[in-house]
Amino acid sequence: AAALRFGNQARFHPLRFLDAVAEPLELYEQTRVRDVEGNRVITDRGTVTAEHVVFACHYPFRNVPGYYFLRMHQERSYVLALENAAGLEGMYFGTDGDGLSFRPQGDLLLLGGGGHRTGENSAGGQYQKLRQAARSFWPESRETAAWSAQDGMPLDGVPYIGRFSAATPNWYVATGFQKWGMTSSMAAAEILTDFICGRENGDAPVFSPQRFHPFVSTPKLLIDGAQTVYSIAKEKLEIPRETLFAIPNGTAAVVKVEGEKVGVYKTPDGGAYCVTVRCPHLGCRLEWNPAELSWDCPCHGSRFDYTGKLLNDPAQTEIGFQKEKKQ
Ligand code: FES
Repeated sequence: AAALRFGNQARFHPLRFLDAVAEPLELYEQTRVRDVEGNRVITDRGTVTAEHVVFACHYPFRNVPGYYFLRMHQERSYVLALENAAGLEGMYFGTDGDGLSFRPQGDLLLLGGGGHRTGENSAGGQYQKLRQAARSFWPESRETAAWSAQDGMPLDGVPYIGRFSAATPNWYVATGFQKWGMTSSMAAAEILTDFICGRENGDAPVFSPQRFHPFVSTPKLLIDGAQTVYSIAKEKLEIPRETLFAIPNGTAAVVKVEGEKVGVYKTPDGGAYCVTVRCPHLGCRLEWNPAELSWDCPCHGSRFDYTGKLLNDPAQTEIGFQKEKKQ
């Protein structure tokens, strides 16, 4: 019905950009932060002490204070890279719920869409929908790659950038960028630099995480529940053979075994991977995502592959699993 055009847009390669800005810094990769206490950042490989701590971790893993899990969920979206698709000059973004996006990259065209709340994709078919669109717009095109992404979605559509909470004056946060990470992160860098250097920033009130005051007594129940996370790897469950037989190869199901709900994925050749479907973050039930062969949490978007390995935060641990012999 209508379109809006923004002129003078820039396009750049995010990794090359990051390489350049990070050059003077000392970075530690593959070092998962487990907790932050005051000015101590606790990682698997040691503790870092810092005057200022910025949570720039996609989705804050500290539940309290801040309560970001009450005001942000996550969404997934899917992309195909197409060769031999007619060149487009600009970047196009469909704003409808089922809208597509188009973006040229070198000789390729990136076709995106199929977004949904994480944990709500039990029917699957997102890549197929994109493939159908590619066939109808560019019948001669060839797919060279396919992938999906995950974004934090704040309650009012504006990222949370600023002080992590009123109770932690030296903690800062930058999160909830929706799909606009390359621009929002620049706004975050400016605002947080000013905070840390004690300068005024006129944009800070717009992004202030303190614009919401979540009702703080409700989450207690959920948080308490999270402490009872269990691992079926520890207490091995006997999954009845007939239960495993009933699940077709290449699909997944949630079954009840000895009173516990267990997620079972049957590989195409009949092997079975069993995981707990209780999310280690705050205890919600995980749902199967056939597009990515993963167990996804509809509450705040943690994800695990079918072997139980953690793919996306805010959960910080894997989910226990056991592997059954081929049927
Ligand atoms: Fe919060 Fe699963 S991500 S309960």
